[in-house]
Amino acid sequence: MKKFTVLMCAILIAFVAFGSQVEIFSWWTGGGEEAGLLALIKLYNQLYPGVQVINATVAGGAGTNAKAVLKTRMLGGNPPDSFQVHAGMELSDTYVIPGKMEPITNYLKEWGMYDKFPEDIMKICSYEGEVYSIPVNVHRGNVVFYNTAIAKEIGMTTAPKTWKEFFGLLEKAQKAGYVAISLGDTGKWTATHLFENVMLSQFGPYKYNMLWTGDQTFNHVALTEAFEIMKKIVPYFNKDHAAGDWQDASRLIFEKKAFCNVMGDWAEGYFKEMGWTPGKEFGWFAVPETDVAFMIVSDTFGLPKGAPNKENALRWLKLVGSVEGQDLFNPLKGSIPARVDADKSKYDVYLQWAMADFSVKALSPSIAHGSAAPESFATMLNDILNRFVSDVNVNQAVKSVLEAAEEEGYLVK
Ligand code: GAL
Repeated sequence: MKKFTVLMCAILIAFVAFGSQVEIFSWWTGGGEEAGLLALIKLYNQLYPGVQVINATVAGGAGTNAKAVLKTRMLGGNPPDSFQVHAGMELSDTYVIPGKMEPITNYLKEWGMYDKFPEDIMKICSYEGEVYSIPVNVHRGNVVFYNTAIAKEIGMTTAPKTWKEFFGLLEKAQKAGYVAISLGDTGKWTATHLFENVMLSQFGPYKYNMLWTGDQTFNHVALTEAFEIMKKIVPYFNKDHAAGDWQDASRLIFEKKAFCNVMGDWAEGYFKEMGWTPGKEFGWFAVPETDVAFMIVSDTFGLPKGAPNKENALRWLKLVGSVEGQDLFNPLKGSIPARVDADKSKYDVYLQWAMADFSVKALSPSIAHGSAAPESFATMLNDILNRFVSDVNVNQAVKSVLEAAEEEGYLVK
């Protein structure tokens, strides 16, 4: 008995000494996203059995609710040990520049990861020569997902390349009694997500990318044309779009009520989780007239200053940056690995398509998902789009975007 008590005490001490817990903050609560996160947590538990992982999530697509909670915590000096953050402006503008993050460049070097990510991605995880977060994935934002049974019924034989061809299909789907294109914009961002892709199609990736560097004016006919296209899309939405989110919109496709929707490929993870096989029950193509580009959405994790369990947070970062971690997480999440040396054979036919395109297409940063512009601009755009999907007033929307761009310091002359 005495021996047993001593043993139990020793185990207990070892556990406590080990660091006890790590709090990981994200908005991955449903669909394939939760499955990916839970798989990572399980692997962490296997590697570090003495550490309790606190899975701190705040539901809401694109972090609509989570980001506000996180900001309050960070400003209040109560950071989680690590948190999901988009590469690009969301990371640098919100957290790095205000001095809330620790640089992790040396850890990446120590772990042999420094040169294992594409330069373009590393650039948006860095600020003034230091790396501040590790990309766990790359999502593609400019994708249309569709129900293959409906596609067959309406006689779709090839993927539409142009808006004209796309509208032809939407018309047929609507005539056949389906919602032609589904939307769930209760959190507003999904309309912006769609719109940024339409913008990309009209500006082209070269000019679109220069909007963010101040080398291309917003005051361009492409902006008006983008809203004209949006105006044509709006009548094809489900009437109750304001009541749902991206998962509701995806489910309409799954339930064979809607033909298609424009969504990032987390929808792919969601379809798979509901039991669909890519290429069988659902198909995909690049948003019309954006085939030359790949709209990047990259989820990353960093190390906040004052993380209560720094050692355990570093263990988390090392795991999410590892080949093993990435190849476990991404096939479930519906994203491709950020690492260049991941095992491609672990990815399904859709993800292989995205991987092939990622390596050859022009990469463009997403507004709705925090890479291109600061949150303040994305919020203004969300409001503009939210109004636009009900009043479809092109002139007013163009004027509002120009005002927002000017306020943000972008080129509008
Ligand atoms: C994005 C995020 C994705 C996915 C999506 C929907 O912003 O990068 O990982 O979570 O929101 O919630």
